[in-house]
Amino acid sequence: MANSSVQIPGLGSAKPVEEKARILVHLDTDALPSAFDRVVAVDSGAQHIFSYGGVTPANVMPLVHGCIFTRGPKDLHRTAIFVGGSDVAAGENLVREIRKHLIPPAKLTVSVMLDSNGANTTAAAAVRAAGKHVNLNQTQSLVLGGTGPVGQRVARLLAKHGGHVRIGSRELSRAEAVAARIRVDIPHAKVQAVSVASSADGPKALEGRELVVAAGAPGAVLLPRKVRESAKDLRLAIDLNGVPPTGIEGVDLMDAGTVRDGTICYGALGVGGAKMKIHRAAIAALFERSDAVLDIEEIYEIALQL
Ligand SMILES: NC(=O)c1ccc[n+]([C@@H]2O[C@H](COP(=O)([O-])OP(=O)(O)OC[C@H]3O[C@@H](n4cnc5c(N)ncnc54)[C@H](OP(=O)(O)O)[C@@H]3O)[C@@H](O)[C@H]2O)c1
Repeated sequence: MANSSVQIPGLGSAKPVEEKARILVHLDTDALPSAFDRVVAVDSGAQHIFSYGGVTPANVMPLVHGCIFTRGPKDLHRTAIFVGGSDVAAGENLVREIRKHLIPPAKLTVSVMLDSNGANTTAAAAVRAAGKHVNLNQTQSLVLGGTGPVGQRVARLLAKHGGHVRIGSRELSRAEAVAARIRVDIPHAKVQAVSVASSADGPKALEGRELVVAAGAPGAVLLPRKVRESAKDLRLAIDLNGVPPTGIEGVDLMDAGTVRDGTICYGALGVGGAKMKIHRAAIAALFERSDAVLDIEEIYEIALQL
């Protein structure tokens, strides 16, 4: 005869679970969710990572509802959303849509972080490095590759500090579009789009610039040695391209404040260590509260506290 006091797992007999697992819901605007972002999530203390690819504003609502309607408000700080993918504008749109489906009056919210292509964490690391050597409120800078995810965020963060920022692109209209977007978010921004299509453009773009950040595509040389050496005002050169040849000729991947021909240099790996720490700290911060929205400014604040 079967035991009449059968216990159904999870009902009555089970001890109450004291602390819910930390779940990171990883929403990628690309078809294939990034392995890099998954690995960093594990290393940042997320206990479960649910990755979804091809996420758009049109299909994100049920994913957000899955986050906020499953746990009570007191446990929602242990669920968080990470938005990644190669397109920073798509990531921004997705975060905007996600926020529409959170319900703050009922405390049904989860924290959200945007880091499309590592743009926010990398830009925060680069600008933090720059701030060690120059006064960012006054520095005149040039961001080469300023139209990519990383370059756009570097330019925005530098502009937020108040310095004059030139945004370089091989196609002026692309740089102008980035400058226009920055002006929408930061009305006082001093940003100027410049073309770097021809060999004569480089020296002109560098005129009067103390800081250059190269955020070009992997393996693309954006600043040849001759042009860099002729830039009389240049004090600080930061190259974010980690795939040789480096984006700024003569800067070594490992440079981290190394002085070369009178210019302080950082290479991609010199910045990369801080980028990884910032990325991990930002993910960990998501699980401290249920209503944080971490975009470039908030991630930069985290970077400054490390
Ligand atoms: N150090 C780190 O920790 C770290 C972390 C993440 C990323 N990264 C690196 O940061 C860099 C920027 O990343 P991203 O994703 O923003 O790059 P991306 O989108 O691939 O490229 C950035 C820009 O480079 C320009 N570009 C593309 N091909 C070029 C070429 N052949 N010659 C000259 N310019 C070219 C393009 O601007 P225009 O077409 O407008 O000229 C493009 O918008 C990459 O090298 C990436 O590997 C470093």
